[in-house]
Amino acid sequence: MPFAADASPTFSTLVEGALSLDDHEAIAAMLARAFPSYDHWYLGARSWAGMQPERRVVARSGDTVVAHAGIRRQFVSVGGVDLLVGAVGMVAVSPILQGTGLGSDLLRHVDVALTGLGVPFGLLEAGEGVQGFYRSAGWLPLEQDGAPITGHYTAFSADGAGVLVSQQEGWLTREVASTLSEWPAGDLHWNGQMV
Ligand SMILES: CC(C)(COP(=O)(O)OP(=O)(O)OC[C@H]1O[C@@H](n2cnc3c(N)ncnc32)[C@H](O)[C@@H]1OP(=O)(O)O)[C@@H](O)C(=O)NCCC(=O)NCCS
Repeated sequence: MPFAADASPTFSTLVEGALSLDDHEAIAAMLARAFPSYDHWYLGARSWAGMQPERRVVARSGDTVVAHAGIRRQFVSVGGVDLLVGAVGMVAVSPILQGTGLGSDLLRHVDVALTGLGVPFGLLEAGEGVQGFYRSAGWLPLEQDGAPITGHYTAFSADGAGVLVSQQEGWLTREVASTLSEWPAGDLHWNGQMV
């Protein structure tokens, strides 16, 4: 179906097991357009690059996916403490609709999904260029003694070998059932891939 730019997108939150092959292809196609540097990750029906999500927040205009976020509950380790988080990734809006407020709508639906999953915190990594986007939606930078915390994760399997990557900034959390004051001190260890 041709894309109608003036149609108001419809949001839905889906469990991963409910996605059809067509759904995976439609999500992957949009992610490839939104992340052109990583379009080799989102080939065919491969609609994920690292940890496969358990929930998808999807906005569609007709059959076309125009916004998407993936979420998966997982335990990370922070300063040696196991912590349940809702890991959020593959947050994207179709390029022709970026800057129209759809990303803000998407993050509001992510908030609802995180609450429904019963997690203490949402967690994601974002580059410097989009920190403002998340912060304006209530996401908070993870810092210790005024400096960004370091996070360690396994490289996305779409890139090949699962080597350890350490990153010294860009980590953001969303308070869901807990507050930032309850976030443990110390480095963040995913002990696996991110969504
Ligand atoms: C990042 C992205 C999801 C934002 O969606 P969007 O629909 O363009 O954003 P919105 O129009 O809803 O903007 C929401 C707010 O964030 C701000 N914002 C949007 N993109 C921003 C950016 N790159 N840097 C800083 N602020 C940004 C907007 O100014 C707006 O602020 P306001 O509410 O104070 O006016 C979208 O641009 C995108 O898909 N980019 C490519 C993929 C990507 O980088 N995803 C993030 C991966 S971590």
